[in-house]
Amino acid sequence: MSYQSKLVAVGFLLIAGATAQAAEFDAADYHSTQCTSCHGTEVYTREDRRVSSLSELQAQVERCDANLATKLFPEDLAALVDHLNDNYYKFDK
Ligand code: HEC
Repeated sequence: MSYQSKLVAVGFLLIAGATAQAAEFDAADYHSTQCTSCHGTEVYTREDRRVSSLSELQAQVERCDANLATKLFPEDLAALVDHLNDNYYKFDK
């Protein structure tokens, strides 16, 4: 392989890697790093929790996320809502 084509190959791998990373959103990881600065997971399971339906959960996650500078894509927000619902709220879908 020539020097030049090796450079092209490396460049291609870098682009492919960056694309794969952008497409992969880890809701559990995002939650533990971004969402626990104001409250922990105990607000999701406390006796008098405020969220009582899947649509309320969606709205609350959006409101809370708006406080962060990360600006999630809608599909990432949906994954985050799923994560909270699967682990804490368990509303029927
Ligand atoms: C800037 C502070 C802040 C950040 C960051 C934050 N929240 Fe909140 N969150 C709040 C406050 C304040 C409440 C209301 C707590 C209360 O009612 O006692 C709340 C409540 C909630 C509730 C409702 C709990 C219930 O009573 O059922 C959910 C769900 C929630 N947050 C999810 C998230 C998620 C997901 C993230 C990360 C994207 C996040 N929060 C990040 C401040 C924050």
